[in-house]
Parts: sequence; C-alpha cells; structure tokens
Amino acid sequence: MNTEARQTAIHVAGLRKAFGEKTVLDGIDLTVPRGTVFSLLGPNGSGKTTMVRILSTLIRADGGEARVAGRDLARDPDGVRKAIGVTGQYSAVDGLLTGRENLILMADLHHLGKAAGRRAADGLLERFDLVEAANKTVATYSGGMRRRLDIAMTLIGGPRIIFLDEPTTGLDPRSRRTTWEIVRGLVRDGVTIFLTTQYLEEADQLADRIAVLDGGRLVAEGTSGELKRLVPGGHVRLRFHDLAGLDAAARVLGVTARDDDALCLQVPGDGGVRSLRALLGRLEDAAVEVGELSVHTPDLDDVFLALTGENENEKVTSA
Ligand SMILES: Nc1ncnc2c1ncn2[C@@H]1O[C@H](COP(=O)(O)OP(=O)(O)OP(=O)(O)O)[C@@H](O)[C@H]1O
Ligand SMILES: [Mg+2]
Repeated sequence: MNTEARQTAIHVAGLRKAFGEKTVLDGIDLTVPRGTVFSLLGPNGSGKTTMVRILSTLIRADGGEARVAGRDLARDPDGVRKAIGVTGQYSAVDGLLTGRENLILMADLHHLGKAAGRRAADGLLERFDLVEAANKTVATYSGGMRRRLDIAMTLIGGPRIIFLDEPTTGLDPRSRRTTWEIVRGLVRDGVTIFLTTQYLEEADQLADRIAVLDGGRLVAEGTSGELKRLVPGGHVRLRFHDLAGLDAAARVLGVTARDDDALCLQVPGDGGVRSLRALLGRLEDAAVEVGELSVHTPDLDDVFLALTGENENEKVTSA
C-alpha cells in the first residue's frame, strides 16, 4: 500500500445501487482521509442510509469499488467488518436488557472474553455518563441515553472507522452537544467518522468535508466554507475610518448598500481569496484605507435548499 492509500480511510469509486427500477446511488466517488469527519447530507430518501449500509457491508453494491480501512469491500468484507463500527439510524439496543447487559452482549459478539468484556462495558458506561442507569432496562431510558448507549456499543471493538447514521436525530440541543463532544474525542484519538445528518449545523460543527447527495449523485462536495460559497447571498462588509473614506470607497466600487452610521459598505461577493484581493486592490489603487473587513457567507441551510429539490418534483438542479 502506498502512503496515500494508508492515509485513506474510505475510498469509493463509481458506486452504484438500485432497488428494483429505482436507482438510489448512481456512480458515487468519494475519499475520506484517516482521522477526519466526513458528513453526508441529503434529503429524505436520497440514499444516505443505503450508502452507510453498503460501506459497512450490510448490503452489496451493484457496481463500483470501495475500500474501507484499506480492505476491498467486495473481496474482504470480514476484514472491513473488523475495522469498523456502525450506529444505525434506528437504535439497535435491546429494550428488555439493561444498558450494561447490552454492552456485554456486544463485547461477547466481539469475542472480547468475559473479564475484558466487562471492563470495556464499565469503561464505556463511565465515559458516556450512563453509570447510574447501567442496571436499568433500556426501555426506561430517554432518547438521549439510548443514543449514547448506541454509540457506546459501536465503540466496543475499538473500531478505527465509525459510521454514524443520523446520530442526533430527535435529541435535544444539550444531548446533541454531548454527542458532538464524543465525536470530537474519537477524532482526537485518530478515529475516522462517516456521519449522515439532517442537521446542517451538525455538519458545520463536526465535518472536515461535507458532501450533498441528491438524485443518486453527489451534487456538491467540499469544506463547509467551500459549500457556502457556492450559493449566492454572500457579501463582504467593509468598515472605514470616516465618512470621506466611505464615500470614496462607494464611488470606487459603485456600491449602494451602505450604512453611514456604522461607516460600512456591503459588497456582494463570494469572499474567496481571489475576489477579496481584487476588491482590496481597487481600494488601494484609489488610496482608500479600509478599517475592518468581514466576510459573510450563507449558512449550510441555504446551500442545502439551493442544491437539493424540496421534493422529487420540484428539483432545482445545481450549477
Ligand atoms: N431494502 C430496500 N428495498 C427497496 N427500496 C429501498 C430499500 N432500502 C432503501 N430503499 C429506497 O432507497 C431510497 C434511499 O433510501 P435511504 O434509506 O438510503 O435514504 P436516506 O437518505 O437514508 O433517507 P432518510 O433521510 O429518510 O433517512 C429510498 O427511496 C428508499 O425507499
Ligand atoms: Mg437514512
């Protein structure tokens, strides 16, 4: 394996999947570097769970290639399974067992051995703030506790790559933040996270790279900043030292969106380095000094709405 392959946790090329007549994944390419968070966004039914199920060996793709943890998905599914953990969209915990029993069951499935399994279970109960609830049946847990237990169960075998399918759906803001902290902690330990979510703020908070799935294809991929620059609405706000500077800049740039009280001008633009440099260059040529500059980008909600259709019949295709 070359260095690049070793640094790659997940590599997917031309992945295809159809259910009957319906093509869900229509040639997906993506690469997730080790120790990073990759977030897959997309409307309901766009194929996020299908993608997770394929990459975690639960179902087979119809075509294309994928390597997970350096192993070929089709040729070495067992090898892949050993390296990964999966938290499904719907909780996999058994409501009739206690939290601790669920964890020990998982440890047994991983053949950890009795003593080591118990140690792992107790360690995770501690880490996920479930010690008090450890001996209560999961049926009595709140949604947040159940999701924490779910993620804890995923960690039992010490996986290097974790798939989290909508890990915080239905959680309150505090539980969501707790989950984010858990994810950040895992990444600090070098774990790679493949995350699907409906919460764009979640992707914004956690993901190194984000891809938007729609109509069977990735319609956009990049950092959250890159994606935000794809949609209009971004602007650069410039502040000047005095009204004379503001006037001069407004003339030079031909901008009418001004706030005289704040001595600010609002210039439409994507906030990319190149356009910023050009903007500042024009002001410098005219000997106008800028006091402050800030870039305002649209948020990921804007990106999501612009890139994906509200429903199947109302699709706005991306550029
Ligand atoms: N086993 C299956 N048999 C037939 N169709 C399926 C099967 N699994 C998924 N599909 C279909 O594939 C499409 C993608 O489903 P998937 O669950 O991957 O979407 P999703 O992006 O995870 O949606 P959500 O945001 O609602 O979780 C849907 O149209 C779904 O009905
Ligand atoms: Mg899903």
